[in-house]
Amino acid sequence: MAFLSSFALAALGALVVPARGGVTYPDCANGPLKSNTVCDTSASPGARAAALVSVMNNNEKLANLVNNSPGVSRLGLSAYQWWNEALHGVAHNRGITWGGEFSAATQFPQAITTSATFDDALIEQIGTIISTEARAFANNGRAHLDFWTPNVNPFRDPRWGRGHETPGEDAFKNKKWAEAFVKGMQGPGPTHRVIATCKHYAAYDLENSGSTTRFNFDAKVSTQDLAEYYLPPFQQCARDSKVGSIMCSYNAVNEIPACANPYLMDTILRKHWNWTDEHQYIVSDCDAVYYLGNANGGHRYKPSYAAAIGASLEAGCDNMCWATGGTAPDPASAFNSGQFSQTTLDTAILRQMQGLVLAGYFDGPGGMYRNLSVADVNTQTAQDTALKAAEGGIVLLKNDGILPLSVNGSNFQVAMIGFWANAADKMLGGYSGSPPFNHDPVTAARSMGITVNYVNGPLTQPNGDTSAALNAAQKSNAVVFFGGIDNTVEKESQDRTSIEWPSGQLALIRRLAETGKPVIVVRLGTHVDDTPLLSIPNVRAILWAGYPGQDGGTAVVKIITGLASPAGRLPATVYPSSYTSQAPFTNMALRPSSSYPGRTYRWYSNAVFPFGHGLHYTNFSVSVRDFPASFAIADLLASCGDSVAYLDLCPFPSVSLNVTNTGTRVSDYVALGFLSGDFGPSPHPIKTLATYKRVFNIEPGETQVAELDWKLESLVRVDEKGNRVLYPGTYTLLVDQPTLANITFILTGEEAVLDSWPQP
Ligand SMILES: *[C@@H]1O[C@H](CO)[C@@H](O)[C@H](O)[C@H]1NC(C)=O
Ligand SMILES: *[C@@H]1O[C@H](CO)[C@@H](O)[C@H](O)[C@H]1NC(C)=O
Ligand SMILES: *[C@@H]1O[C@H](CO)[C@@H](O)[C@H](O)[C@H]1NC(C)=O
Ligand SMILES: *[C@@H]1O[C@H](CO)[C@@H](O)[C@H](O)[C@H]1NC(C)=O
Ligand SMILES: *[C@@H]1O[C@H](CO)[C@@H](O)[C@H](O)[C@H]1NC(C)=O
Ligand SMILES: *[C@@H]1O[C@H](CO)[C@@H](O)[C@H](O)[C@H]1NC(C)=O
Repeated sequence: MAFLSSFALAALGALVVPARGGVTYPDCANGPLKSNTVCDTSASPGARAAALVSVMNNNEKLANLVNNSPGVSRLGLSAYQWWNEALHGVAHNRGITWGGEFSAATQFPQAITTSATFDDALIEQIGTIISTEARAFANNGRAHLDFWTPNVNPFRDPRWGRGHETPGEDAFKNKKWAEAFVKGMQGPGPTHRVIATCKHYAAYDLENSGSTTRFNFDAKVSTQDLAEYYLPPFQQCARDSKVGSIMCSYNAVNEIPACANPYLMDTILRKHWNWTDEHQYIVSDCDAVYYLGNANGGHRYKPSYAAAIGASLEAGCDNMCWATGGTAPDPASAFNSGQFSQTTLDTAILRQMQGLVLAGYFDGPGGMYRNLSVADVNTQTAQDTALKAAEGGIVLLKNDGILPLSVNGSNFQVAMIGFWANAADKMLGGYSGSPPFNHDPVTAARSMGITVNYVNGPLTQPNGDTSAALNAAQKSNAVVFFGGIDNTVEKESQDRTSIEWPSGQLALIRRLAETGKPVIVVRLGTHVDDTPLLSIPNVRAILWAGYPGQDGGTAVVKIITGLASPAGRLPATVYPSSYTSQAPFTNMALRPSSSYPGRTYRWYSNAVFPFGHGLHYTNFSVSVRDFPASFAIADLLASCGDSVAYLDLCPFPSVSLNVTNTGTRVSDYVALGFLSGDFGPSPHPIKTLATYKRVFNIEPGETQVAELDWKLESLVRVDEKGNRVLYPGTYTLLVDQPTLANITFILTGEEAVLDSWPQP
């Protein structure tokens, strides 16, 4: 999507975007459509949308193939902006008009931070709150009904500028996050609270690497990696969560741009995943269609813009988003020059209209969710949830016992140093809206009665004068340094070339450590290599907070002072800085070779901090309750029978853990279950996340049971052809990172293909 500031967008919007303001629902009681079946809430969604499309003429259909749709005034359909954003809260973006009573909306932590909670019920609750607020905006004419969120691309390379928008590097984790978030956003049905959009389909995870950009990158992806790693979150969205829409991405996959790729959009998405019955729509990323034609800097896949439009629509895209980098698409001239068919035009419009039917657009003022109002925005529950998510997602990377700080002693003073110690806007991250309040760490600490000596610090290069920071440290009992990178360094359209700690910050941390005061580092943003910090003895603790949202400062201070206990786990590997010279950014392969280190915790074993790492203020012991030692593959499949539509969704007996808090502080605990085993195609991954569960508030001495639920999907391996296969063999379940307990069980009999992958 476009990367202009909200100010630039607002200015451009005033000039060129006809669909401003928010939803104006059609008047089904008295308007021109009142006797059209589309207004008949007892008819099926398909019949309703078809009835509407049947009274639209070709000019009207052609005009509405774009994100800023003019509507059809003859039929009482107002202009409609399909482009609305709500990645971690209602955002500043095209279709959303802030102001008046709607000047604020709850801003949760970024996805990378909420993902670190490993708490899927919380993710669903966040999705519910975001969509409730979004729908209230829409009902008041301040937004539309579909939101281009979530971003579920696996975070393949630590340089990616948009990695923080995603739930992290693991395909299974992103799948579970997508399931919870989409469920929350769309609601239980039959009406969607809002329409969610899973993006960016597919294998999109590069903004710019030298002359390679997202507009011209041809991602070379093996069928195995595509099926195993890049696509599972989208399978979840489409096949299992019935998401209302999918966004195709800028990049090409194996030479064919994603937005003109019939293998991805038709063979896999619509046919193999059966994403058809509700005629969900595919939208292009903004200007993606422009860049697959003959535009400078693009794929040059087609000789003209008109041919690009035809190729995209014929391949299955239904709505073309135009940002401002390209030229507006002209679907009518493309159609008139024969670039796409009448059937394709009718189908695209039908899918869009059915999306609106499902969102209750034509249901009248008594329709479901139409009564959501400003009273449902920024509720106390929403604010509490934003704080809970930030606390839950903070990860304790290192602690020699200095944390939690006992700040309640007499005259305890804390030096808070760094570029985001009192810059709350930096806690929000990309695709933000305006929060009802913004609590930075300094403000939060002072409001809790702590004496704070605050000094700003450099973002990247050294500041000349460090005396103020050193003075603050000298008169304090402890130093908390807030640093790392932020969303001026990593952001949409901007990848990093280095994952080293910013040199200026590191130099200041060294000077602060030399004062002899204990130094605690709170790291923001996605990862940099913490190795240099680990060799400074006086850096006594390190926390990672990502982008913790509107109450991130409160969360950090609560954790540092022990009012809350850290229990988050890393959803992405912390790589050493040498990784960027060993793994070319453009190499999409997951598996290592003699000259290539491989990607993610599954294949790469030299992490500074591995996926799943996260310390506590207490200790836990874990034991596994009785679990069967052996299963026959044939029995597993037979007992599943017809209970599920797809064999990978067959249940597998859950594993119960006794989790005992053996320390002295109450704490949550994330039980991670990884599988390893020598079965399936070689090389075998070291281990693979198979199941997880967060357990809450375990008191000192208390034992709680963690039920680890899973399905056969967690046991399969993906072969070279992309098939999901259940192999006989010995499986080892490894609990936690590092392993605290393990069990083995065997699967016997013949291997079984649970999902037979369509070949390209
Ligand atoms: C695929 O979708 C069709 C149409 O809704 C439905 O009838 C069918 O049951 C679905 N197939 C599976 C395996 O879910
Ligand atoms: C809003 O409508 C829902 C049904 O869609 C209903 O359950 C709820 O009570 C209504 N709330 C108010 C405040 O009227
Ligand atoms: C300090 O002590 C007071 C009184 O016991 C308590 O309410 C407060 O939460 C404590 N503050 C911190 C940061 O621990
Ligand atoms: C956890 O246990 C280790 C030794 O087993 C001990 O050194 C450490 O202090 C304990 N940590 C906490 C927070 O209780
Ligand atoms: C788990 O806890 C239960 C109840 O406290 C106990 O009976 C059982 O032996 C424990 N099992 C294991 C494997 O620790
Ligand atoms: C599994 O647990 C056993 C003890 O029950 C231990 O000897 C073994 O080293 C563990 N294996 C792994 C891979 O952790």
